[in-house]
Amino acid sequence: MMILGINAYHANASAAIVVDGRLVAAVEEERLNRIKYAAGFPAQAIQFCLDQAGAKLTDVDHIAVPRDPWARLGKKLRFAVRMPRFALERVQVMRRFAGIRDDLAAAFQMDASQIRAQLHRIEHHTAHMASAFFVSPFDQAAVLSADGLGDFASSMSAIGEGSTMRVLGEVTFPDSLGMYYTALTQYLGFWKFGDEYKVMGLAAYGQPEYLDEFRRIVRADGPLSFRLNLEYFTHQVQGPDMSWREADRTPVLGRIFSPYLEKRLGPARQPEEPLTERHRNLAATMQAALEEVLVSYWNGLAEKSGQKALCLAGGVAFNCVANGKIFDSTPFEKVYVQPAAGDAGLSVGAAFAVHHEVLRRPREFTMDHAYWGPQFKAAEIRRVVDGVASSDDVAIVERNESELCQTTARHIAEGKIVGWFQGAAEWGPRALGHRSILADPRRPEMKDILNRRIKHRESFRPFAPSILEEAVGDFFEKTHPSPFMTFAYPVRPERRREIPAPTHVDGTARLQTVSRSSSPLYWKLLRAVGEETGVPVVLNTSFNDNEPIVCRPEEALECFRRTQMDVLVLGNFTLERKHSSRTAEESAERFAQREN
Ligand SMILES: [Fe+2]
Repeated sequence: MMILGINAYHANASAAIVVDGRLVAAVEEERLNRIKYAAGFPAQAIQFCLDQAGAKLTDVDHIAVPRDPWARLGKKLRFAVRMPRFALERVQVMRRFAGIRDDLAAAFQMDASQIRAQLHRIEHHTAHMASAFFVSPFDQAAVLSADGLGDFASSMSAIGEGSTMRVLGEVTFPDSLGMYYTALTQYLGFWKFGDEYKVMGLAAYGQPEYLDEFRRIVRADGPLSFRLNLEYFTHQVQGPDMSWREADRTPVLGRIFSPYLEKRLGPARQPEEPLTERHRNLAATMQAALEEVLVSYWNGLAEKSGQKALCLAGGVAFNCVANGKIFDSTPFEKVYVQPAAGDAGLSVGAAFAVHHEVLRRPREFTMDHAYWGPQFKAAEIRRVVDGVASSDDVAIVERNESELCQTTARHIAEGKIVGWFQGAAEWGPRALGHRSILADPRRPEMKDILNRRIKHRESFRPFAPSILEEAVGDFFEKTHPSPFMTFAYPVRPERRREIPAPTHVDGTARLQTVSRSSSPLYWKLLRAVGEETGVPVVLNTSFNDNEPIVCRPEEALECFRRTQMDVLVLGNFTLERKHSSRTAEESAERFAQREN
């Protein structure tokens, strides 16, 4: 039984394939076509999934898409009368979904009649919830999906039991926690798709000084509901202006905060304007108000469901700062957030919803690691490395696994910046030790060095640590696993001096806990780092430079050439710039020239 899940015609296009109830592969189109947040039709992702399953499109039994035109049709129609432009956009998207067979046939150069798979439309939030619960380790759990908007709803909650989910409640358009967060993110001068993450990082620098005002903007409304004060927004009048640009296939977002919001809170920050204390306090308040609503929602869900385990999905589930507070502010004891909690994860969710809820098959799979993307054979990596001549500038050495971990640990301890490329690419937006840039967390200056030499990010944004699972309690105040970097916990005050680089200004860190079973090589590297330095932690940031995370070894090499990384570990090979970081820039230039 082969089920292909496709998230298409929307940001974070992706594909996933489930064979006999087990996930075989999943990847975002952006990793393959190299367009960040790529929308459109994920032809390359589908091809990759089919290849991993050793199948052709004609072998697929079911195709699952996370969109249901019939869901909440009455509500959709009522809004369509008021918002014709928005309605037209929706109709266009629905038309595209209706033509998905034709798009598949065109992409795979066959006649649509040859595709025998049955097509299933899974409601957006059902797919989100399925993407978390059906791959979670829990037989029973409360489930919550919360995002901007999907199929005219912004959140849905359920009790998951075995291979079924029973819906407890939903919040429909225009009330939306995702819209709230995005509107305030825009107001603070961050307009790019996905910028919410930046404002969450900024929030730690401020105080929630405007909470009274923000409680007018968003508030809990009963146990499983919340409300927006629509005076502050525009999306309910003109529709959420989220579309995708055909030219470069990137998502575009229109302004969704109203003039009234500026009247109440003062003028919006312009993107180039310096960040002031006021902006920092606004960001802190925005986060605090979200947390108040989420805590109320989570507690309502705990009470209604009677469950001790919680599964989260939807863009709001990426709010690791809020997630880290679940354990102290609700009865939930265990929480599962799958690595692609946002819309990319819908391909996995739609496929598992078909497997369990449509085909009524039992559960037999847990997503306990994130490595579902492209992997490259040793021979392919060797070929890429062979293309780089050993030179005065770069030394190339092949090592066995234990030597590789020891040498890399020593490089990190020496303060070098290491590109680490191993195994299958991560599913979801976080680098989790397969496509990562690693550095010494003990050096307070490392954050600035990384920003100056490679990442070029805003200085207020934190970097994250990876930590040996066995050592989490030594360094953090919480020990609940965070294998996919979806929780931020306070670092123990007495240990903050030991890992200053990935400890945020508020004393927390968005950690990745690394277990031997899920990431054996990365676990060995962290153990080696612990032996070398006494601190089994690395600073782990994604292997990229303002682009999607590298996928292929060639892209890793290119990023190494382009930036001032000191060392690139590509499979079993170490490529080391011989010159110190003082001259790394010149070295990078010489290296690039030689290779060109
Ligand atoms: Fe969504």
